[in-house]
Amino acid sequence: MCGIIGYVGSKNNTELGIRALKRLEYRGYDSAGMAIIEESGLESVKVSGKVDKLRDKLKETDFKGTPTLFHSRWSTHGGPTRENAHPQFDCKGEVAVVHNGIIENFTKIKERLIEEGHKFSSETDTEVIAHLIEKFYDGDLEEAVRKAINLLEGAYGLAVISTKEPDKIIAAKMSSPVVVSVNEAGGFVSSDPAAIVEHSKNMIFLEDEEIAIVTEDGFRIKDRDQNVLEKEEVEIDWDLKEAQKSGYDHFMMKEMMEQPKSIKDSIRGRITDDGDVKLGGLDEISHELESLEKLTILACGTSHFASMVGKYLIEEISGIPVEVGLASEFRYRKRPYDKKEGFLFVSQSGETADTLKALEEVKKRHALTLGIVNVVGSSIARKTDGGVYNHAGPEIGVASTKAFTSQLSILTLLAVYLGRQRDLSKPESAKILTELEQLPKKVESILENREEIKEKAERYKDYEHFLFMGRRYNYPTAMEGALKLKEISYIHAEGYSAAEMKHGPIALIDEDFPTFAVCLQSSVYGKMISNVEEIRARKGPMIVLATEGDEDIKNHSDDVIEIPQTMEVLSPVLAVVPFQLFAYYMAVLKGFDPDKPRNLSKVVTVE
Ligand code: F6R
Repeated sequence: MCGIIGYVGSKNNTELGIRALKRLEYRGYDSAGMAIIEESGLESVKVSGKVDKLRDKLKETDFKGTPTLFHSRWSTHGGPTRENAHPQFDCKGEVAVVHNGIIENFTKIKERLIEEGHKFSSETDTEVIAHLIEKFYDGDLEEAVRKAINLLEGAYGLAVISTKEPDKIIAAKMSSPVVVSVNEAGGFVSSDPAAIVEHSKNMIFLEDEEIAIVTEDGFRIKDRDQNVLEKEEVEIDWDLKEAQKSGYDHFMMKEMMEQPKSIKDSIRGRITDDGDVKLGGLDEISHELESLEKLTILACGTSHFASMVGKYLIEEISGIPVEVGLASEFRYRKRPYDKKEGFLFVSQSGETADTLKALEEVKKRHALTLGIVNVVGSSIARKTDGGVYNHAGPEIGVASTKAFTSQLSILTLLAVYLGRQRDLSKPESAKILTELEQLPKKVESILENREEIKEKAERYKDYEHFLFMGRRYNYPTAMEGALKLKEISYIHAEGYSAAEMKHGPIALIDEDFPTFAVCLQSSVYGKMISNVEEIRARKGPMIVLATEGDEDIKNHSDDVIEIPQTMEVLSPVLAVVPFQLFAYYMAVLKGFDPDKPRNLSKVVTVE
């Protein structure tokens, strides 16, 4: 959630650090800070607030030293004050630590350190790490870090510098991501490849319990038994332009507008001319997939809603029974496993702690694991037996948009792949795939009409509650529409199956509670119209998402948003786009920054 950067080298450290931090700002942004080893010793600047404030403060300095650490914080222990911002220091101001994660046993460690005479100046869990390193330092920084982390329980991705050994950064990882890259510009450590991709696309991903010793011109990575490891570099397939706003006001708008391209990129090269699906990342486990009798999909948030659509897709197209669960809940279930059950983990970042922990739990049972992951080389991608990368490009806006439509596209490919291993005929498969290839154009036409959605947002901006409802494939779309609205415009929104309304929630409906209903030409059209009328009978304002050319729907609504016709199984890819746009415009109209919603972070690396 917090962003960490370490740099050792001869470039302009502060500008380089700020640029990298700006790219991580989406992960957490209530305070920021940096530390640098100057000839005079360890210097630092910390602010409560955004990275720009740190940049302004740094303009008043003339730092020239190296190494340096930068951090953007999403508070867990202690409020977003200057004192609690990272880096955190030891008593003597010689050791600086930046940290992403949570140290669960920090209170006990802190009490002990205070008894031993250490003076603390923050409320953070992180500060104990700096004091432990101070305590254990006996001429070897690496060893001191090793001894310190041996005492830690919880999650950490961390980077450490010390005036005692100013030629290096020590980085360590447990459950929170850390990447290392050494290139012509020097040695880098980061919590996210996106921050340092401008310097090199080749990264080393640390595994849990590994320690990296990074200098200007090289690095060593050791495991917990201090063996030096030969690790392969992973090439990140993003270019820097993709991680910039490119003229848009917000990353979220840029990423929504990119959807025609990101969907195309997700399916490119994966559909054969004769109507089959080719997924290279599944080749090695294709036999196991052939004999699969059940699939369980685990994910969080938007990825969970995509997975819910995935259940309908895979069951309908391949005939395999699918269970979908929240990764956070699954982990604590005492659940029997089926013999021929596979597990699919869906995650944009590939680092979501809840999803990662569920994956680790499943691996203990030796079940087959697959991933649909956007970030190449991320933990979930590395730990699954096989998988499919989204290739959607970096998603920076906190609200997930292009990752969702990309996940739906890949889940469709997977459903067809599994279907072809079973009873799905070539003509049936070709029909779905041909229509899938049409979606980028159709998404583009929705995006071209965004002014119409903006007008709707202007008309409805003063309402304080919204209901989103749909059925079957578009029940998850309704959930996602509600999530988008609440997370960036802070408006109360409920996502429901339209059928469930009469079992309770319809009691909420009155003239101040508008409903968005996904009422497309589909197997549930008639039933949706009945549910729409039930709401209208209670005076609820009704905005209907309808299929282009549906004239009758105007008799059942106050407002209509039309989207192009497609197959029902693919309809969420189109239906979600107006909801994304509506949430975006509502947030902007209310004066909120949709890229940086309060209390949220892009990558949720704590449980
Ligand atoms: C909402 C959103 C989150 C994420 C969730 C899982 O817009 O972005 O709900 O979908 O935190 O993240 P990933 O997909 O990275 O595992």
